[in-house]
Amino acid sequence: MCGIVGYVGRAEDDSALDVLMEGLARLEYRGYDSAGVALVTGDHTSTRKKSGKLANLRAELEADPLPPSTTGIGHTRWATHGGPTDENAHPHRGGADGKLALIHNGIIENFHSLKRGLLAQGTVFTSETDTEVVAHLLAAAYDEHHDLTEAMRVVVADLEGAFTLLAIHADQPGVVVGARRNSPLVVGLGADANYLGSDVAAFIGYTRQALELDQDQIVTITADGVTVMGFDGAPAEGKAFEVTWDAAAAEKGGYATFMEKEIHDQPHAVADTLLGRTDADGRLTLDEMDITEHQLREIDRIIVVACGTAAYAGLVAKYAIEHWTRIPVEVALAHEFRYCDPIVNDRTLVVSISQSGETMDTLMAVKHARLLGALTISVCNTHGATIPRESDAVLYTHAGPEIAVASTKAFLAQITACYVLGLYLAQLRGGSFADDAQSVMKQLGEVPGKIETLLGRMDRVKEIAGFMADTRSVLFLGRHVGYPVAMEGALKLKELAYIHAEGFAAGELKHGPIALIEPGQPVFVIVPSPSSEHGLHGKVVSNIQEIRARGARTIVIAEEGDEAVEAFADEVIRVPVTAPLLAPLLTVVPLQVFALWLSTAKGLDVDQPRNLAKSVTVE
Ligand code: F6R
Repeated sequence: MCGIVGYVGRAEDDSALDVLMEGLARLEYRGYDSAGVALVTGDHTSTRKKSGKLANLRAELEADPLPPSTTGIGHTRWATHGGPTDENAHPHRGGADGKLALIHNGIIENFHSLKRGLLAQGTVFTSETDTEVVAHLLAAAYDEHHDLTEAMRVVVADLEGAFTLLAIHADQPGVVVGARRNSPLVVGLGADANYLGSDVAAFIGYTRQALELDQDQIVTITADGVTVMGFDGAPAEGKAFEVTWDAAAAEKGGYATFMEKEIHDQPHAVADTLLGRTDADGRLTLDEMDITEHQLREIDRIIVVACGTAAYAGLVAKYAIEHWTRIPVEVALAHEFRYCDPIVNDRTLVVSISQSGETMDTLMAVKHARLLGALTISVCNTHGATIPRESDAVLYTHAGPEIAVASTKAFLAQITACYVLGLYLAQLRGGSFADDAQSVMKQLGEVPGKIETLLGRMDRVKEIAGFMADTRSVLFLGRHVGYPVAMEGALKLKELAYIHAEGFAAGELKHGPIALIEPGQPVFVIVPSPSSEHGLHGKVVSNIQEIRARGARTIVIAEEGDEAVEAFADEVIRVPVTAPLLAPLLTVVPLQVFALWLSTAKGLDVDQPRNLAKSVTVE
């Protein structure tokens, strides 16, 4: 969850600090309880680091400027070992001479035993972090080998856990060495400079040419070159790719917050995720799929593993995939999956959903599933991330970078990708819905335009949120695919507005939750389309009547033309008509917008809510 950036420029280029600070600003979403930089300055390294947001580091650099340099590393931290203090902020120095500085993302699981060894030798520690242990080990290895790459190779052999490490040493100016295991690291290739980053946002302002690294690799960058080797010392090569995200996509695009921008990105997120999925005859194809068609025909069970919003996308997808394929789908919270003795074999397809592709809980679930013989598909938004690399096949969502901590456009893109997967399976297996795949894809193709229309009508939702700044509790009701949407609406409100919110299956009301209803209680109700099967629409309309009769303030999300809800709704938010299974791609939008503006009305930080980080890379 930390953000990492490294830079080496030519001798006449002393802009390292500017490049690092720009990279950190773009990476701040990855974690933000402290930040720091280290530069090679003459015969030593110089560091500045500060707890709190990047602004604190900027102020520190103004008060106590660093000398110019061609080479440096920068870090934004979300604390794991050791609280968010100045001392625990990265970079950490190793050795007694202050020549080596190190930054780290991840966790060194065996740091206690390594630290005991160093303490026995008299090493003095200035922080509580696992990172400082590695810094001292690396400094000692450098003193022995006089080469930072070789020192890194020696040290990583003793480390257990997940880590990306970047180091500089004053005796090797013009060099940054990185290493990765189960944690992200990409290389940016410039004309007269090279870059390292935990993702491409770190250097997107400077270059679009990048190299993807494999697990267990060490990379050494200078101004003129990049060399890669395995942890075993064997020479290796990264995989070159061009970054297609433009620099502006990593910015706010004129909106006040990233979240608002990302809500407005949603028509594109859905449209782009659908791109290139049908061949000239309109048949579904999945180019990124490495699993054989035979294997996919044989699966008899699907388990979705994911966390938070991504798990709600999985719950939505369950309804659709089961309906289209008749394959049973289970949705497991990734952090619970491993511990429930899951029933998995080589006919089980485990679909992980993760925006970041780095969520440790989800990664561990995928690894466990593979160990048990399952086929694994990753639905992921981040190219080169760890989860897709650890999976048998990948279905990328094309939502672009999601920077606001609260997930919005990734959710829609995840549902879309899972639907594509479900339709693909239906087509492949030739059940009764095989022929429907094309028509559903056509309906999906119309969704982006409908989201656009819906976004044009959100003024009233913003007003409602504005009136509700003092609200202490909001309930959300939904049914069928609307049920996970209700839970997602509640999650958005909890994380953004810090108020109690709960999402219920509307049918569950009478089994307990209706006791919560008292006069004035705001309740959002996601009403199924009148065209839904099994009379669901009428049942939810009855639920609205029941809670209204007990004094609830009902805010109803209903399809255009659904007049039945009017009589019982304090507010009606209209969504365009679409097939019932596709409705979540629309009905969740007003809930996201509501959470955005309620958080804003409360004067809270919409993009970086308290206690949360964008990418949770610890279990
Ligand atoms: C909520 C939110 C989280 C993430 C969850 C999984 O708004 O963003 O619940 O959905 O932490 O993250 P990824 O998708 O990166 O695995």
